[in-house]
Amino acid sequence: MIGKKIEKALNEQINAELYSAYLYLSMVAYFESVNLTGFATWMRAQTQEEIMHAMKMYDFINERGGRVILKAIEMPPPEWGSALAAFEAAYAHEQIVTGLINDLVNLAVAEKDHATNSFLQWFVTEQVEEETSADNVVQNLKMAQDAPGALFMLDRELGQRVFTPPAAQGAP
Ligand SMILES: [Fe+2]
Ligand SMILES: [Fe+2]
Repeated sequence: MIGKKIEKALNEQINAELYSAYLYLSMVAYFESVNLTGFATWMRAQTQEEIMHAMKMYDFINERGGRVILKAIEMPPPEWGSALAAFEAAYAHEQIVTGLINDLVNLAVAEKDHATNSFLQWFVTEQVEEETSADNVVQNLKMAQDAPGALFMLDRELGQRVFTPPAAQGAP
């Protein structure tokens, strides 16, 4: 049975993951509005990843005999000044989320909840990847600023991203 403090903290993280999905979906809408459809495709995959993160937390709370409580999701910004500004915001957001995951691990350790600590390690590793992938695009966009046509090329490249859903639970 999950402790009340951990249950509350994981429920808050579900909200943070759903806000991440909402933020990135708002970026999808922004990119579509400026005809950067490849960037939009990339962010659409990112949105699905964040929903997957939320569902992982959701399932874990249930498995441990806790109760999922969903709260209101904050409104994300609707506009960004440029693709670079949007990806800089995404990178900054991922750094905040990494801090939240680290706080959760610290709480699990303090509460001597080893199962939650073990569960959270997946997110610790995932956040390294999340920060790197957002920062890579930031770096590419910074280089693209000086090269005509580079934004177009980058848009095409990012448009290749496909969301791969995690294997069904219990699958080998
Ligand atoms: Fe996430
Ligand atoms: Fe993320």
